[in-house]
Amino acid sequence: MSAHIIPFEQIKNDPVILEQIRAIFFESSTKKEFKDPADKEAFYDKYLGFYLKHYPELAWVAADDKVLGYVVAASSSQGDDLMSIQPHLKEFQGYFETYPAHLHINCHHDSRGKGIGGLLVKAVETGLKARNIKGVHIMTGPDALNKKFYLKLGFDFEVLKDFHATPILFMGKSL
Ligand SMILES: CC(C)(COP(=O)(O)OP(=O)(O)OC[C@H]1O[C@@H](n2cnc3c(N)ncnc32)[C@H](O)[C@@H]1OP(=O)(O)O)[C@@H](O)C(=O)NCCC(=O)NCCS
Repeated sequence: MSAHIIPFEQIKNDPVILEQIRAIFFESSTKKEFKDPADKEAFYDKYLGFYLKHYPELAWVAADDKVLGYVVAASSSQGDDLMSIQPHLKEFQGYFETYPAHLHINCHHDSRGKGIGGLLVKAVETGLKARNIKGVHIMTGPDALNKKFYLKLGFDFEVLKDFHATPILFMGKSL
C-alpha cells in the first residue's frame, strides 16, 4: 500500500493513530531517559503536543495501513508560550522576520529514505504559503544526517550558534 499524506485534522480523534504518532516521536528522539512520567510528558508537549494543540491545521501524517511519519509546524516562532518551553528559540530571534515558521518532522525508522519526509515537508510548505507565511526554518545539529535532507529541500540559509554549550544549526527557506 502506498503512503498517503493526510491532514492531522482529519484523524485527530483516532486514538490508534495518535498513539502511533507518539511512538514515532519517542523512537526518533535522541533523548531516551526521563526523570519520571511528568518529565516524559513535558518533553512530548515541547516538541509535539504543543503543535498538535495550537496548530492542528499545520500538521500532517504519512500513512498506509499505519502511520509512517508526521510533520508539525508553528506559523510564528515568537510567542511567549513557545519561548518559555523552547528557550533556545530566543538565540535566533533575529531571523524570525525572514523565516517566521518552523517545523518538526520524524519518520518511522522503517520508512526513512523513501521520499516520505520530502512529501511531508511539501505539505507543510503548501499550508504555510496558503496562509501567506514567507519563510520557514528548522533547527538541527551541525553534523546531523538530516542536514542533507533539508539542503536538498532548499533550506539554503544557515546560522550556527551555541546554546548552553550545544551547537544548534538554524536552516531557513524562503517560501
Ligand atoms: C529526516 C527525515 C524526516 C527525512 O525523511 P525521509 O523520508 O527519510 O527523507 P527522504 O526520503 O524524503 O529524503 C532522503 C534524505 O533524507 C536523509 N535521510 C535518509 N535517512 C535518514 C535518517 N535515517 N536520518 C536522517 N536523515 C536521513 C538523507 O539526506 C536522504 O538523502 P539521500 O537519500 O540523498 O542520502 C527522516 O529520515 C527521519 O525521521 N530521520 C530521523 C529523525 C530526524 O532526523 N528528524 C528530523 C529532526 S530535525
